[in-house]
Amino acid sequence: MNYLMGLDVGTTGTKVLITDVEGNIIASVVEEYPLHTPKPGWAEQDPADWWKATVQGIRRAIAEAKINPADIKGLGLSGQMHGSVFLDSSWQVVRPAILWCDQRTAEQCRWITERVGEKVVVEETLNPVLTGFTAPKIAWLQQKEPENWKKTKKVLLPKDYIRFLLTGEFATEVSDASGMSLLNVPKRKWSAPMLAGLDLTEDMLAKVYESWEPSAKINKEAAEATGLKEGTPVVGGGGDQAAGAVGNGIVEPGVLSVSTGTSGVIFAYMDKPAVDPQLRTHTFCHAVPDKWHVMGVMLSAGGSLRWYRDAFAGEEKAAATKRGVDPYEIITEECEKVPVGSEGLVFLPYLTGERTPYPDPHARGAFVGLHLRHTKPHIARAVMEGVSYGLRDSLEILRAMEVPISQVRASGGGARSALWRQIQADVFGCELVTINVDEGPAFGVALLAGVGAGIYSSVPEACKATIRVVSSTSPNAKNAETYAALYEVYRSLYPALKPGFEKLAGMA
Ligand code: XUL
Repeated sequence: MNYLMGLDVGTTGTKVLITDVEGNIIASVVEEYPLHTPKPGWAEQDPADWWKATVQGIRRAIAEAKINPADIKGLGLSGQMHGSVFLDSSWQVVRPAILWCDQRTAEQCRWITERVGEKVVVEETLNPVLTGFTAPKIAWLQQKEPENWKKTKKVLLPKDYIRFLLTGEFATEVSDASGMSLLNVPKRKWSAPMLAGLDLTEDMLAKVYESWEPSAKINKEAAEATGLKEGTPVVGGGGDQAAGAVGNGIVEPGVLSVSTGTSGVIFAYMDKPAVDPQLRTHTFCHAVPDKWHVMGVMLSAGGSLRWYRDAFAGEEKAAATKRGVDPYEIITEECEKVPVGSEGLVFLPYLTGERTPYPDPHARGAFVGLHLRHTKPHIARAVMEGVSYGLRDSLEILRAMEVPISQVRASGGGARSALWRQIQADVFGCELVTINVDEGPAFGVALLAGVGAGIYSSVPEACKATIRVVSSTSPNAKNAETYAALYEVYRSLYPALKPGFEKLAGMA
């Protein structure tokens, strides 16, 4: 029997998945780790925690699957994008990794853009330089921690650091490298002007592969640590968004995904790279060879509801423990009793700043329209609705770019809630479907490993062999009308509140 392994170095934990070649999940385990916020707006992790989780996760997954590791024909790596791992000359980590959701680098984004020139930045990377991306983190280290920069000999993305520990090779692939502001995205290779702008040389970065290409093999030390067979091939893999899209079958025109995890993403496949003229979405290389994708990324989607749960839902948590269910189930039951539109309460989900459509690290969350009738469940429902309006902002940009939209596939934690799926279908005004597998990026990279191992002839073929639609949610015309009116209010609020957000940023 042949099996494939997918590994996703996420923000809250690392997932290890084993699938058979028909897409049946044989084992799926998650090992969690903490995220550190040493200062407001900062987000860091210790790469040693990712490695511990990887070793433990692979061991647990193999034990759960009860298979011979020699039957694992390939491993794919995915991970949180944009993070920076700085290594010294003995390949030791220089400082904690700075993550995708870290907002410390506004000044460095401006500095790089001025130094390289905005036109060149956009021609080369197809995107503006944003606080979450990797290059401004490098500039931050150069400017703010010059001692650490002096020691730095390699800069790697999170999953590529784990690849190094598993194989001893420095390799990356086009989809994750697209989010560094260092790749020439149209040509799928490192960008000379961007590297020059940061005084970097190519040997400080990893070698770039296509996502399905074999990049390295499990080495002896890693085999001993994890229980994998030495020599197991490791393919390029993918950034979590492109990998998640492969795992959702977003590999042809017309099929989009909406993923509601910590962040919220609307993702569309493209045959040729196209760019939003206002640069509000990201255009990156897809994990499909010679294809691209465009996506709108909001920073706090599921993260907003998690914030609500942790800040306000103590009673619901206690009730959930008593009933043996997830607290989100109780929160959702309460939201169902609140009228569509939360009786005029509108939530802005910018709890950790925003990217699409407002690349603004200073944006803040807000509830607008509170009155005496509003209760706690109104607040929870307004959070679900506000996140959906935020996702619609991205969908509208794609519509204006004339990206074809025939089907939207829902994924991520938020897609497990029938209520949230209905709210999204109503707010987007289109049908939402779910598919048979709900394992996210780890499943996508397992499929890429299957392409690398020659089990599938191409990435779309891998998707065809394993993925099918299992449920569909249609928009309710009356609800859609209510939401269309509230969406107009939502859209007017950020521009009105922006000056206030700027002032608040200077205070706390
Ligand atoms: C994508 C992005 C997030 C992270 C974390 O641009 O920033 O999706 O990859 O998951």
